[in-house]
Amino acid sequence: MTRASNSPPLLVVEDLKTHFFTRRGVTKAVDGVSFTLLAGETLALVGESGCGKSVTCLSLVRLVPEPAGRIVGGRVLFEGQDLLQKSSAEMRRIRGKRIAMVLQDPMTSLNPALTIGTQVGEVVRLHQGLRGDSLRQRVLEALRRLRISAAETRLSHYPHQFSGGMRQRVSSAIALSCAPRLLIADEPTTSLDVTIQAQYLDLLREVQASAGVAVILVTHDFGIVAAIADRVAVMYAGRIVEMGSTAQIFDRPSHPYTRALLRCLPAAERGRQPLVEIGGQPPDLARLPDGCPFVPRCPDRLPICETKFPPLVAIAAGHDAHCWAALPATESAAPLVGGSGGGAAVAPPQSH
Ligand SMILES: Nc1ncnc2c1ncn2[C@@H]1O[C@H](COP(=O)(O)OP(=O)(O)O)[C@@H](O)[C@H]1O
Ligand SMILES: [Mg+2]
Repeated sequence: MTRASNSPPLLVVEDLKTHFFTRRGVTKAVDGVSFTLLAGETLALVGESGCGKSVTCLSLVRLVPEPAGRIVGGRVLFEGQDLLQKSSAEMRRIRGKRIAMVLQDPMTSLNPALTIGTQVGEVVRLHQGLRGDSLRQRVLEALRRLRISAAETRLSHYPHQFSGGMRQRVSSAIALSCAPRLLIADEPTTSLDVTIQAQYLDLLREVQASAGVAVILVTHDFGIVAAIADRVAVMYAGRIVEMGSTAQIFDRPSHPYTRALLRCLPAAERGRQPLVEIGGQPPDLARLPDGCPFVPRCPDRLPICETKFPPLVAIAAGHDAHCWAALPATESAAPLVGGSGGGAAVAPPQSH
């Protein structure tokens, strides 16, 4: 959480849209996501299953499953350059080197047929051009940094010889061995038991502090959010519906969906269990309504919510929510603005 707040943002995502074209129609998995991330900052991406968190992460590194999935709009400016304009070869160089990913299931990111030493070594060799003993030393260093004990012996072991927590640390070692500027971790602790999960979070904190790596962390668990995130983006139906600092989100959740998620909070005490269900189902992303997609589940809905997607309402500096009910009462009773902003309390669309 070492933030360099004076420098330009590391990542600027503008109106990102990723859709899946299937026989059922067009699924708008990510539909207009915008946010920025500063160097060294940690952003938590939260929301129920199926709201587009993983597809957002995959889109940032151009790993959307093709041909059904396609990025259909937006910009992903990383260190000032639009990743959506890069060639596949350029993206391969950026992934793993400047941007690292840790996937939900570490088994899928490790090759069961290769030793850990070979796998970590391959990444280091590819990106740093090291050979022989200096390569070996760099690999050992990467493993030790992630507190993998007896690293020398471990080099010759295969993934199945490691526990789940170890595997997650090995895939993190691979991810971090090339000193990335951005780590994208998609539910990295979901497959870990509670003790290992706590260790993993300590590790993530160390990584944040020592290397100043910016982190996008997808998680279901607000306990984890509170522990390590600087800011929170709440996703619903392919969009970020509320965004703010971690303190703002906890102190003044302003979208009814965020409040519903937080009501499930005893999560912090419950450990790693998934969120308690909120009544009703998330909408079908292939048949999104014109109005707010949270309407059928929303305790605060107003008539206008049924017909018009809510504008981005500024709650405080750096904190906003897409919600008609978050507008001051006079404005929501007689709204002056459409879905694209305009009233005094309505922030410009790119303020994320
Ligand atoms: N490979 C795919 N083919 C078709 N649709 C997909 C595919 N992957 C994801 N989707 C769609 O995108 C939605 C969002 O998925 P995802 O980003 O994985 O959700 P989350 O990570 O928030 O649980 C899913 O509900 C599904 O409709
Ligand atoms: Mg996911």
